[in-house]
Formats: sequence, C-alpha cells, structure tokens
Amino acid sequence: MTQNITQHRILILDFGSQYTQLIARRVREAGVYCELHPFDVSSEFIQNFAPKGIILSGSPESVHQHGSPRAPQIVFELGVPVLGICYGFQTMAEQLGGQVVAGGNTAEFGQAHIDICKQDALLANIGENSRAIVWMSHGDKVAKLPESFKTTASTPNCPFAAASDEARQFYGLQFHPEVTHTQNGEQLIANFVHNICNCNALWNSDNIIELRINELKAKIGDKRVLLGLSGGVDSSVVAALLHKAIGDKLICVFVDNGLLRLNEGEQVMQMFADNMGIRVICANAESRFLTALAGVTDPEAKRKIIGREFINVFAEEARKLEHETGGIQFLAQGTIYPDVIESAGQKNGKAHVIKSHHNVGGLPDDLAFELIEPLRDLFKDEVRKLGVVLGIPPAMIYRHPFPGPGLGVRILGEVKKEYADILRLADDIFMQELRASGWYDKTAQAFAVFMPVKSVGVVGDGRRYAWVIALRAVETVDFMTARFAHLPYDLVDKISTRIMNEISDVARVVYDVSSKPPATIEWE
Ligand code: XMP
Repeated sequence: MTQNITQHRILILDFGSQYTQLIARRVREAGVYCELHPFDVSSEFIQNFAPKGIILSGSPESVHQHGSPRAPQIVFELGVPVLGICYGFQTMAEQLGGQVVAGGNTAEFGQAHIDICKQDALLANIGENSRAIVWMSHGDKVAKLPESFKTTASTPNCPFAAASDEARQFYGLQFHPEVTHTQNGEQLIANFVHNICNCNALWNSDNIIELRINELKAKIGDKRVLLGLSGGVDSSVVAALLHKAIGDKLICVFVDNGLLRLNEGEQVMQMFADNMGIRVICANAESRFLTALAGVTDPEAKRKIIGREFINVFAEEARKLEHETGGIQFLAQGTIYPDVIESAGQKNGKAHVIKSHHNVGGLPDDLAFELIEPLRDLFKDEVRKLGVVLGIPPAMIYRHPFPGPGLGVRILGEVKKEYADILRLADDIFMQELRASGWYDKTAQAFAVFMPVKSVGVVGDGRRYAWVIALRAVETVDFMTARFAHLPYDLVDKISTRIMNEISDVARVVYDVSSKPPATIEWE
C-alpha cells in the first residue's frame, strides 16, 4: 500500500446533533477516512487538515438564537465540496445569503417523502420514480435559497428538502441521510464522498491493519509494550494487532478478579496464550478482591474498590515485569474513537456520556509509560471487523458487553465467593439457552443477577430454602435507553427450570420486566 489511506479525508464539523457520529460512521462505511471536530475549530486547523470535502452536521440549535453556531467562513472558501445536513444546511444557506424561518406548525419529525425535482450528483440513484423516503427532524427550515442554489427535492411541508449549487459544489439536505430510516442514505453519503469529493475507498480492514502495523513498528522499535487484557473486544483487538506488529515484545496482563463469568479466565488464556502465542500473564487475584469487598454493600463503594484493586494488581505485575525485562516503555490501551469524541465533548462542556471503564489510566507515578492507543480513531464496528480479520473468533468479537466491575455489580449487596459461584452457573445456563434459541443475537445484553434473599421451594418431598436469581435481557442500540427483551415464555420457562434443577442453591427465578429509563440495565 503506497497510497496513504487517510490522505483522502473528509472533515465533519459537529454542531451538536445526536446523529453526528452516525455521519462519521457512514462515511467510514463508504471506505473513506473522516474525522469529527467541533464546529469552531480554527481556520488554520481546517486548512492543515486538507479535507477533500466538508460535512456540516445537524444541531438542536436554531440560527435565530443569539450566539448560535456558524460554520467558519473558510469552509466556503477552500474550494472543496461542502454538504450541509439539517442545521448544517440552514447555517450554510443563511451564511451564503439565503433565509431560514422558524418552523412553527410546519416542523417535521419522522419519515417523509421527498419529490426529487432535479437529480444532481448527490441525489443520483436515490429513491424510485423521483420519490424517496427520508428521515426529517427539524423545526426551522430554509425559506429562501442563496443565489445560484437550485432546489433538487421538496416535501409538501418543506420546499427546499434538498438543494445545491453544483458549480461551487455546495449541497444542502434538510433531512438526515445518516440514519437508517432514510432510504438509500448510505448511497447518498457515498455519492458525496466518492463522486463529488473524489475520495477513493481505501479505508478498509486490511488497509487499516497494514497502516497500523507499520506505524506501531516504527514507533515501538525494539522496546516493550504492556497491555491490560480484559477479554473484552477493544483490548483483545489491541492485543492481536500489537502481536502482529511486534510479536513477543508485547506482554499482556490479565487480572482474574474472581468476578468473571464461568471459565472466562481459562478461555482468555487459551485464546490468547495457547492459540495466538501471545505472552499473557494471568494474575490470579480472586481472594484479594473478595477480601477487599468483604462487608461492603454500597454499589459505588464496590465499584471503587474493584477499580482500585485492579490498578494495584496491574501495577504490581508491571513492576515485576520492569524488573525482569529491564524496562517497559509503552502502555497500550483500547481507547476507541467514541471515547475520544466524548472526552473532547466533556472538555468543551458539550454533550457527554459518562463511561467508567476498567482501564489503567490511574497508574502510580513510578510507572511512567508512554501511551499507545492503536484504535483511537476507530468506531466500535470498525474495531470488530478488524478483530475478525485478525483471527479473533466472531463469537468473542460479537459478545454482549460486560461491565468492568463484572459480577461485583450483579451480586446485590455484599459480594461473596459462594454467591459468585452460584451466579456463574446460572448465568452460563441462561447464555447457553439464549444461544441455542437464537435469542443471544437478538438481545443487546443479557445476564443473571444474584439476589441475596432466600425463598422457599419444594423439591421432591422436601422443602428447599434457597437463593433467588433474576434474569435480565434488554434490547438497545446505544445502551442509553433500553427495552426489556420480550423473550418467549417457553424459553424463560426452560431457562428457569434448568437453573432451579441444576443449581440446588437456587429456589426461585424471576424475569426482570423493567425498561431503561426509569430502571438501569445493571441492577447496581
Ligand atoms: P446501566 O446499568 O447504566 O448500563 O444502564 C449501561 C451499560 O454500561 C455498562 N456498565 C458498566 N460498564 N463499568 C463498565 O465498564 C461499570 O461500572 C458499568 N456499569 C454499567 C452496562 O453493563 C451496560 O452495558
């Protein structure tokens, strides 16, 4: 690969829409590298970025509000194509001499049909018979186009649903091509980046792997890299990538905190150490974690203890390795692009999501490693694809997320080994049945919860007084909201029967029918 795969790049300026990350994902899916930056980056930054095209995102704001955001003037002076989406279109129209009016009772939210009246390069191959279904979400709308713009599509409510100035390559859409409800939205994005911006489709797993490996080799040389391997997708892909790049100069530390799922520690060791030949040190720290958690019932206190112990164990292993190897220079982390965007958003005081991650950012000062984050510019779906190409089994790559504190937040109240052992067995039966019935892939996350209350049951002629297990399964895309999965009763029946029959310490199984909000996905 002689061509730099990030040289054909698109700049996305973020005005705060909930869909901005989706725009970036669609551009990447079209095989083109892009970056997302706040709308108010400097002109110098935009110039140096040298985009082959710029996309202006939507926004919850109105151009009529005092101090609402505007695109930097240079966007329209660089001579590269510009696509304004929703608010991006409105501010572009206004900045170029058009007019925007407040929506009032013509606001549109949801699906709409557009009539394509002039098929420009952007709308090529969208819809059928000059009609297409699109997703609208706007109050304000453009009421007068800037001179030289032509209408390309409209709805009864919105005369300028799409418009363009093809000579200057400025395009505007009132609807959202990035959401899946817009018919052929991905084609529209592809039209923009390929046909209008002339970007080649170079951004794919093979090329990304080759690029990253070359970069890692150049940066690391003969030095050593330490990685905290959790068995989750991100750290697993970092491990596979680094191993390919630097072989045994990578050393992984896997902390078994005793709060993992059934056989999880063995599986991680087998997969990475035995199958892939990666050097993985397994720190067996079960009793240490359980001792630290003894008598603690408050969920946040439990999280803090688990996080602190993790850092302590990891730091001890790192010190031992420093001693043994004569020095480790780098610490690798599985930071991914949404983490980068979110933490930038937090710094700017913009929208943010709080993620308490099981990472090793809080290492003591004597372990001053340089950070390596090879997935820093990748979305989760890109990381998954990379993992599959790197040879990690898809079943591992497409596993439901598992929280850093593990079973620590799924055993309500005090954590005890006895409880963890019971929960592991129940959870494993639940997963087996979800997989066998095809429901594992239909749910975003599912798990069992240990309830430290005893309930009466009857087994044969005897009475049983034993624990309660709750089953939790949810459907969600973003984990911010979730609906409890409507598992078939027959399946729930089979799972609960198996759990009560096979685990004598469980007398009762209940199914959690709470959605988020108001409940959360985890019980603690
Ligand atoms: P909640 O319970 O907040 O969970 O609805 C949303 C998602 O976040 C995961 N989660 C965590 N992940 N450390 C993590 O790494 C945590 O402390 C933690 N708490 C919740 C949860 O599993 C779900 O996917």
